[in-house]
Amino acid sequence: MSKNWKTKLIHSDAHIPSGYRSLASPTFRGSTTLFPSAAAATDQWDQKRVGYTYGLYGTPTVMELAARVCELESGAHTILTPGGQAAISLINLAMLQAGDHLLIPASVYYPNRQLATRLLSRFGISTDFYDPLIGAGIASFIQEHTKLIWCESPGSITMEVQDIPAIAEAAHARSVRVVLDNTWSAGVLFDAFAHGVDITMQAITKYIGGHSDLLLGSITVRDDSLYQRLGATQQVIGCAVSPDDCSLALRGLQTLAVRLAAIEQSALEIAKWLAARPEIERVLHPALETSPGHEFWKRDFLGSSGVFSVVFRPGPSQQQVFAFVDALKLFRVGYSWGGVASLAIAYRMGRTPGRPSFDHRIVRLNIGLEATSDLIADLAQALAQVRA
Ligand SMILES: Cc1ncc(COP(=O)(O)O)c(C=O)c1O
Repeated sequence: MSKNWKTKLIHSDAHIPSGYRSLASPTFRGSTTLFPSAAAATDQWDQKRVGYTYGLYGTPTVMELAARVCELESGAHTILTPGGQAAISLINLAMLQAGDHLLIPASVYYPNRQLATRLLSRFGISTDFYDPLIGAGIASFIQEHTKLIWCESPGSITMEVQDIPAIAEAAHARSVRVVLDNTWSAGVLFDAFAHGVDITMQAITKYIGGHSDLLLGSITVRDDSLYQRLGATQQVIGCAVSPDDCSLALRGLQTLAVRLAAIEQSALEIAKWLAARPEIERVLHPALETSPGHEFWKRDFLGSSGVFSVVFRPGPSQQQVFAFVDALKLFRVGYSWGGVASLAIAYRMGRTPGRPSFDHRIVRLNIGLEATSDLIADLAQALAQVRA
């Protein structure tokens, strides 16, 4: 059939050589997925079972990143989401219904707490917050309708490492599922499934992305029934991920080991240097004995990453702590972490029930890939300026 040029724009017979091979994973974009026949068209989400059906459930680029995260975390299946917080909400929406009860550590990433108190509460789901260091004592918090126990280890900002095996044992004795925010370990420094977790999520945004230029999340599950619940819920919620972002994350994966190793070394050196400073009361770094739950980190983790907090000795006002952060020249001020640039953020801690009362004296650092000696020099000059 001869074609008008306008038709050729859409249906081309042009040919390119076949057989190209490269080390880079191709980026497949697509909303529509083509079917071989009218009868073959189907809108089912489980593409591993039925083949590709619709872009919402992932193109091969998305499926590749999911499969590779799943392999790294030794799970059964992985589902990707448009960010870490989207992973948190998808898990809750898939697993909970009206009348259910949820347990969340007081140290949890704040938007995870807000999801429970501001949104899930409107749908008849109740939440209690527990001491992250409670361990087996979690048993006394489990109610008849408790369905899910969230863990985040280490906790956001205050860095409590949890006794996950003890929590999982108490949960499973009452048929309650355990879900872990495993972002700090990048899914590789803590083997969640070997320690009894049922569902893990991480913000791929952080260490796997690794360059502060994308937002993605992952949910990995230990069995097929959980995958069915999550996949069916993702379909109706419709949270799709960008194949372009997945392509960046696939690139990030290749250098994760060397970035993490360099960041671990640098963060440890800086944490130890800070611990010896007279202005600092406490360094909350899981690999230091002064950090809450250090013994569980030592027992269960394969290493440490680059986010930790420092608590100033009582004395400086909030303005002085802000002045310290502002005096830093290499550390930039910004949320999120896991990238190559070092960051500092001052928090106010003590108004949220169940959290330590450090008030305005706590600053969280994200260590990037700058020379450690330069970062230490930067911290030294900022401390000196605040003292002066
Ligand atoms: C521990 C933790 N979990 C989840 C998230 C959410 O990830 P995202 O920013 O990709 O939504 C963050 C983000 O800071 C985080 O620190």
